[in-house]
Amino acid sequence: MLFTVRHFPKILFLAFFVNTIAALFANPVFAGRSNSLLDISQDGKLLACSNRDSGSVTIVDLTTHQVLREISVGKHPEGVSFIGASYTVAVAVYDDDLVILLDASTGKVTNRIHVFDEPYGVVSNKEGSKIYVTLDYPGQIIEIDTAGATIQRQFPVGQFIKAIAISADNKFLLTTEYYTGQVKKIDLKDGNIVDQWAGGSNDNLSRQITMHPTRAKAYLPHIRSRVKVAHGAGSIFPLVSIIDTEAGEGKRKMRIPLDSFIGTRVTSNPWEVAVSPDGKTLYVVFAGTDDLFICNVLDDNYRELTPRSAIYLGHNPRAVKVAPDGKTFYVYNALDFNVVAYDATSLQIRATIPVTENPLSKQVLLGKILFYSARQPMSGRRWISCASCHPDGQPDGKTWHNPEGLRNTQSLAGMAWTHPIHWSADRDEVQDFEHTIRGPLMQGRGLVRGKINPSLGKPNKGLSEALDAMAAYSNTHKFSMSPHSKKGLSDSAKRGRDIFFSPKTACASCHSGPFYTDSNPISKKIIRHDVGTAKWDKTEKMEPAYDTPTLLGLYRTGPYLHHGLAHNLQEVLTTYNRDDLHGKTSHLSPTEISDLVEFLKALPYENPVPQGHKTGLVEVKN
Ligand code: HEC
Ligand code: HEC
Repeated sequence: MLFTVRHFPKILFLAFFVNTIAALFANPVFAGRSNSLLDISQDGKLLACSNRDSGSVTIVDLTTHQVLREISVGKHPEGVSFIGASYTVAVAVYDDDLVILLDASTGKVTNRIHVFDEPYGVVSNKEGSKIYVTLDYPGQIIEIDTAGATIQRQFPVGQFIKAIAISADNKFLLTTEYYTGQVKKIDLKDGNIVDQWAGGSNDNLSRQITMHPTRAKAYLPHIRSRVKVAHGAGSIFPLVSIIDTEAGEGKRKMRIPLDSFIGTRVTSNPWEVAVSPDGKTLYVVFAGTDDLFICNVLDDNYRELTPRSAIYLGHNPRAVKVAPDGKTFYVYNALDFNVVAYDATSLQIRATIPVTENPLSKQVLLGKILFYSARQPMSGRRWISCASCHPDGQPDGKTWHNPEGLRNTQSLAGMAWTHPIHWSADRDEVQDFEHTIRGPLMQGRGLVRGKINPSLGKPNKGLSEALDAMAAYSNTHKFSMSPHSKKGLSDSAKRGRDIFFSPKTACASCHSGPFYTDSNPISKKIIRHDVGTAKWDKTEKMEPAYDTPTLLGLYRTGPYLHHGLAHNLQEVLTTYNRDDLHGKTSHLSPTEISDLVEFLKALPYENPVPQGHKTGLVEVKN
């Protein structure tokens, strides 16, 4: 044997060797290599999808394209993954802080694993002995032993982590920071970060990453948020970044803009990507423009992706997955509540599978579709939707250079109880966002025919069913309990609470009532305070007085203050309050400041909405 091989020309031998290695790796396509809202079992027979709005997971038989069962799992499930070659499915239930294991063949929930906060992405190793889950807040990956359903290790990996992928040899994980697009490689031996790839300065909303089946490449869809340009044709851009997972020479990272990828067809909000098992095709779904790109994956370390074709999908497509045989791909249309099977060659629809009933009211569903849409009548140039900056009501982590000055994007949580809106309280109803839709930022046709009223003038409510629907959806986002007070307030937070409510600091004189604000949507009276924060921004054009923001949910909404210059809560109370204009804090010792911060991080620690409390604005129901 050795003799014959030695007589092969060197090149041929090399080709043979490379091919053998490639063949060895050509079969690493096992379920759960990258986080997704869809997964397919290793034998290609079952599909699982998580239904965020319904709080369920649906199992589909891929031979018949029939739904086998829908299983309730809790509030806002996100990532799903089959475990190894089994029919056990792991689901990350984001708002219940649970990872659930269920048996897809019986529908029985077998384990409920409590995690600290916000589990998002799940992947399984090849054997199915371990799963890895990202905790968006506080930015960790946890390793769960599937036999014992116990957390074995946890790796702090950065700030806000949703994406995760596991290498075919089970040796490392890749993850990305949601708000920076920074990719990290984690060695599974010791959990150390062994390599990192910086994002571009404006890279944002990086919620998924997937690896090539044979090459040392990984792909991540994300956007760029160009905060200095508040304009519909220059603010938000769709991209796929490609990284070389093996350190060394050559191009380590490449960013492919997708708004000029297929002619002049602009797309927005790339949500997930999938690579076909033969590694030759990459699919991207766009949750804003409701379309899908099919790209050729080139083995050239140069262009990497070239366009093949594009098709329109249903409303708000959030996931795509290719069957193990590569012949069919599946798309999850989140707001049509269905999975659609496409023939990978002809691109014809093979089946449309309704996976869950619409759990939303007719009005909220219409509003949600509009909120996610980057098409007319919402957006004139197709780059931008409300959800580009407020995905699922969460902030985009950015501070925008708006014409009126620096403005940090707010969380929409609990907004129905904390009107008026905007830092400057220059709007008193979400219907006023018709001005945003028609303005330079979105350049949409708008939802009202004819003239509208100025923001604080006569109501814009009642002028259009669609606009009222968009407002109703925007007002559905509720506060989540702080994970820092799951076991009640710590001693430090209790001391902080006394400081907060003391007449000397006077915090509660403005941050009052169950929502920690003196804003009142029922009285509709607008109150603004000058707390000495305007002077830090030379571009500020409005009065130096601001609406008192709620303090509920602060633990995850940094940076802080309208200008977003305070990186953390300490800075709000010290650096940006030197003159004691924002409550009195100069007399507090460093320990007292940190106690106060502990208290602020623990909010909300009880349900802020009193029983039977009406918002005075809208019925808040999903
Ligand atoms: C380019 C990013 C961006 C886009 C697109 C965007 N927003 Fe915002 N949003 C912001 C920023 C920044 C703020 C804070 C602005 C301020 O206070 O003046 C904000 C504030 C808000 C608030 C106020 C929240 C509160 O608690 O006061 C609401 C409501 C809102 N946006 C809804 C929308 C809707 C509806 C759309 C689509 C029509 C939209 N936004 C599009 C960035 C954006
Ligand atoms: C006079 C009314 C007033 C008092 C007193 C007051 N605040 Fe505020 N607070 C505000 C206003 C107005 C803002 C928004 C200022 C801005 O964004 O520039 C704010 C913002 C904040 C923020 C940032 C919120 C965010 O989402 O970025 C925190 C944290 C905060 N206050 C905590 C406190 C604490 C702690 C105290 C007591 C030491 C206090 N405040 C006293 C009115 C007040």
